[in-house]
Amino acid sequence: MTSLLVTDIAELVTLDPQQADPTSSPDVQALGLRHDAALVVDDLHGTPTIAWVGSAAAAPQADLAVSQAGQTVLPGFVDSHTHLVFAGDRAAEFAARMRGVPYDGGGIASTVAATRGADDDQLRTLLAGRVAELRRQGTTRVEIKTGYGLTLPDELRLLRLAREVTPHTTFLGAHVVPAEYRADRAAYVELVTGPMLAAVVAGGDAAYLDVFCEPASPHAFDADESRAILLAGRRAGLGLRVHGNQLGPGPGVRLACELGAVSVDHCTYLTDADVDALAGSDTVATLLPAVEFSTKHPYPDARRLLDAGVTVALATDCNPGTSYTSSMPFVVALAVREMGMTPAEAVYAATAGSGRSLGLQRRIAPGEPAELALLRAPSHVHLAYRPGVPLARPLVG
Ligand code: NIG
Ligand code: FE
Repeated sequence: MTSLLVTDIAELVTLDPQQADPTSSPDVQALGLRHDAALVVDDLHGTPTIAWVGSAAAAPQADLAVSQAGQTVLPGFVDSHTHLVFAGDRAAEFAARMRGVPYDGGGIASTVAATRGADDDQLRTLLAGRVAELRRQGTTRVEIKTGYGLTLPDELRLLRLAREVTPHTTFLGAHVVPAEYRADRAAYVELVTGPMLAAVVAGGDAAYLDVFCEPASPHAFDADESRAILLAGRRAGLGLRVHGNQLGPGPGVRLACELGAVSVDHCTYLTDADVDALAGSDTVATLLPAVEFSTKHPYPDARRLLDAGVTVALATDCNPGTSYTSSMPFVVALAVREMGMTPAEAVYAATAGSGRSLGLQRRIAPGEPAELALLRAPSHVHLAYRPGVPLARPLVG
């Protein structure tokens, strides 16, 4: 077992409240910052695990040692909402949107056609490229949804491909009603909740079920359809995630809270009742500001959620329609500049918050998995302060 000492760390973001400086503001205390710190990782080439955390001056010996003078070490980002298994792109749709054409989910059909037309190896290569891209930017955990197959065999193979690269997989057969079912939406809901879900559960490759609950889109699902789909997923033993309140006010957030979803994602258009429901639940509000960047919708009001005591997560939503970015640093920068989050709150939401929605604790403390990112900067603030600069990269994990 090889051990590694990482020393001279200018700022170590432990997320361990025991490490917090009680004189700092609450958002910064949550990061559990240590300065001039060091840590030891055990089993570097096996299951890397944090063995020791302390001051650089007191660092023990290890097999290997690396100095990170002047730099920041933090838990790797958790990207808890992506749609990475797809073929083709929709650059023309993006360009049209920048000229003022609104997004309504209709473009998903063209990605479904391209994805159905790609074989497993083509999709595997595209997926591997995207995973490598997000890892290079400091993401160490990723959730991946299906949703561009929308037939039983295609949804199953997208799940299988996703499961090859992550345990955090989500069945999104209820992404949109595919063209061939447009005249009979109920038949598609029956397919998703019946044979498709049964095959997904039998295959064992899905941890969660998700639905695009958005009455404002003619392609997505209304409250009754979404409820039926979520209840079927819950009965089948899957965790629940919901796309809700993305394009306008709607029932998604309250449904997610009522049914015990682990996360409701987007949360762009919220009423006071939605915020109250979130505050009274264990459901995480996952905000995806790269979507608002790319669709020209207003950014979600993270401040309002945080002030109400809601757990906020940040993720990329990487997909070819509404958010073709794999960059958690970009998302953090948008959250700070456009959504009223402090740099500390945004870093917390992109690690601990998104981790919570996947049942993961992100903490740099002895015994925890060593999934670490390095920031070529003296503090976490630089993530938002130096947008677009490739500061983050993986350190271990
Ligand atoms: O999270 N809102 C629904 N699904 C995706 C967009 C998918 C697409 O347009 O291809 C989202 O924004
Ligand atoms: Fe999404």
